[in-house]
Amino acid sequence: MVRTISFARGAPSLDIVDVDGLRAAADQAFTSDPGGMAAYGTAVGYTPLREWIAERHQVSPKQVLVTNGSMQADAFLFDGLVDAGDTVVVERPTYDRTLLSLRNRGADVRMVELEPDGIDTEALARLLADGARPKLAHIIPNFQNPAGYTLSEAKRQRLLALAREHGFTIFEDDPYVALRFEGESLPTMLSMDPAVVVYASSFSKTVCPGIRVGYLVGPEELIAKIVKIATSTYISPNMVAQAIVNQFCRSGRIDSSIETVRQALRERAQTLCQALSEYLPDASFVAPQGGYFIWVDLPEGADVSALFNAAADRGVQFVKGSDFLLEGGESSLRLAYSGVTPEEIEEGVRRLADAYAAVGAPAHAA
Ligand SMILES: Cc1ncc(COP(=O)(O)O)c(C=O)c1O
Repeated sequence: MVRTISFARGAPSLDIVDVDGLRAAADQAFTSDPGGMAAYGTAVGYTPLREWIAERHQVSPKQVLVTNGSMQADAFLFDGLVDAGDTVVVERPTYDRTLLSLRNRGADVRMVELEPDGIDTEALARLLADGARPKLAHIIPNFQNPAGYTLSEAKRQRLLALAREHGFTIFEDDPYVALRFEGESLPTMLSMDPAVVVYASSFSKTVCPGIRVGYLVGPEELIAKIVKIATSTYISPNMVAQAIVNQFCRSGRIDSSIETVRQALRERAQTLCQALSEYLPDASFVAPQGGYFIWVDLPEGADVSALFNAAADRGVQFVKGSDFLLEGGESSLRLAYSGVTPEEIEEGVRRLADAYAAVGAPAHAA
């Protein structure tokens, strides 16, 4: 039996999780605040962590809600803002769980093309000029899931101007921001214009996903409204996990954890790009500047569904591009390099190329 190599899951491999640091943070947290950890706490989250996050973003703690992972933050935000029939703009392609969550709420989802420097803001401007009245635009600005692309500063400004002019909220979904491995960091849209932005981020990619701690930053009144939804949903989020994250952050351990993750991801991304160029020359992609993902386009007519099965037969997994779209994407795929070592990447791409050869490249491909 060949060992499966998974490019499917957007999750880190265990070797880049600081388990010892987490154990130490848990010990410190239980020692310093057993009462705070053992109690229900409040729906806003563990107060010291809420304050740490507020300071990082230069906002008032009242603008912060700490949740069980940022998926929970997304769900609360959609519960608070999105009713059936409301128009919501998303990127094309976008994170499949967001897409599902919006569709389950009966939102009128409008996908706007994603380019290597972010959402096509002129296409969005045309959509708005044609009468679309979105409540929300969901944007993943850094190292986007699934494409790995990053929104340029000029487009951040343009998006904010469109939001102000047309009265919609930008939902800046930013779990990968700390994982830049080359180039300049760009300002968050939250810092550029907090009046029209609700921001979410997470400790899943910088600490570990199992800890399930994420957060939302937004205008005080909106956060107060969402706190009510949180209270009636679960009384309060997981105080034990949040107190551990709080110690992990305040001790500075998070900085070394981020450095470890960044270095490993940089190497993995480079290995993946090289292996694709070498073994799968039909693949076109943009090398990411950070994060977990590469989006691969195969020549038009390539059957990624057949490739998916042929790859599975060879012990390789990925996610089909069509999972991130409402329609189309049949010749694209997403590869996550976060959970695989460079050796596995090399071997995985060889198997993928073998699967591609077996299903047959489209007739007009090089
Ligand atoms: C864009 C985006 N938003 C939200 C999430 C959810 O993250 P969390 O683990 O904090 O719930 C993910 C996870 O992969 C993601 O890619």
